[in-house]
Amino acid sequence: MNLDKIKPFLVMEILEKAQEMQRTGKNVIHLEVGEPDFDTPKCIVNSTIEALREGKTKYTHSLGLIELKKAIVEYYYQEYQVEILPEQVIVTSGTSPALFLLFTMLLEKDDEVILPDPYYPCYPNFINLMKATPVYYKLKEREGYTYDIDSIRRLINKKSKALIINSPSNPTGMVNNNILKDLADLDIHIVSDEIYHGLTYGIKAKSILEYKKDAFVLNGFSKKYAMTGWRLGYLIVPQKYVRSLQTLSQSLFISANEFVQYGGISALKLAQEDVNKMVEIYNRRRIYLVNSLRKLGFIISKEPNGAFYVLADSRNFNIDSFKFAYEILDNTHVAVTPGVDFSETSNNFIRFSYANSIENIQEAIERLRHYFRI
Ligand SMILES: Cc1ncc(COP(=O)(O)O)c(C=O)c1O
Repeated sequence: MNLDKIKPFLVMEILEKAQEMQRTGKNVIHLEVGEPDFDTPKCIVNSTIEALREGKTKYTHSLGLIELKKAIVEYYYQEYQVEILPEQVIVTSGTSPALFLLFTMLLEKDDEVILPDPYYPCYPNFINLMKATPVYYKLKEREGYTYDIDSIRRLINKKSKALIINSPSNPTGMVNNNILKDLADLDIHIVSDEIYHGLTYGIKAKSILEYKKDAFVLNGFSKKYAMTGWRLGYLIVPQKYVRSLQTLSQSLFISANEFVQYGGISALKLAQEDVNKMVEIYNRRRIYLVNSLRKLGFIISKEPNGAFYVLADSRNFNIDSFKFAYEILDNTHVAVTPGVDFSETSNNFIRFSYANSIENIQEAIERLRHYFRI
């Protein structure tokens, strides 16, 4: 095992310190965690309770309930007009196990995996765990964190096994639709993490499957349906990989929760109105937060249009994001995530999550304004 290469998830360390402060009576505002503040929609909760009452508490097929897999197929058709088969879908206990399964199957020692920088911190951790090597393509703040096909193409060589894309992105909050067609033409496996699909503002995120039938898709219910604690996700893969993934999954996980999978079916079939309401609220917070951070002196060249994050350049304050995040937490009791969590070259950035009420976000901005004496 390559455990010395696995880095701590700094956002969790900040969260744990913030929680400790709360235990000593401090009023901490959480703008660090990537977790919806909304309750899971009632229609999902109700169907799951019904499933529990009906005794849906067993192991399921290792690849997931056929009803859920069919609902996912239907969902991808409705959303993106792409035709996939239920046999291509593998249900997992969250997107994280899906990522782990996929990389365990796909990667061998010394393979290279190309991924965006800044990145979701678990990607390089999983890659390193498999003794493969992460290779980064830099997304630039002043260019709105857009992907550049030429710099990606230059990184591809014989060792390159896969390319990860994440749109809308954690941590940038950006949707990158325009690049998908070009990426689909590259001679490399594409792994598209679509977990923030559905949380977009004034734009709809496109799926890689609209351009590349044999791409690998990761998705889950945590973000769009406010279901982080339910632990439900899935993979869509070319059929020839299913058997290997199934064999692995049987040993590693047996199956996802049965009653939770019923909740997933209701999410896909019944919860769109609830999601629309959440998106409307996220959008108001997003606009307020971006405007306020700009007034405080943070640099945000292009408004983020997806997920619930703003990755702001904080060079006007401090270029050591780790120290700066702790300074903010200690002095204002506002918890934020240091950019260095998302790459060493993002050390002059702070990620703000707007998965918190507008009142709390306003109070956080007031505290920052007061602390910075603006
Ligand atoms: C980009 C991205 N992918 C995957 C995950 C994992 O999600 P989960 O395991 O809750 O489905 C997260 C969670 O923050 C994320 O931000």
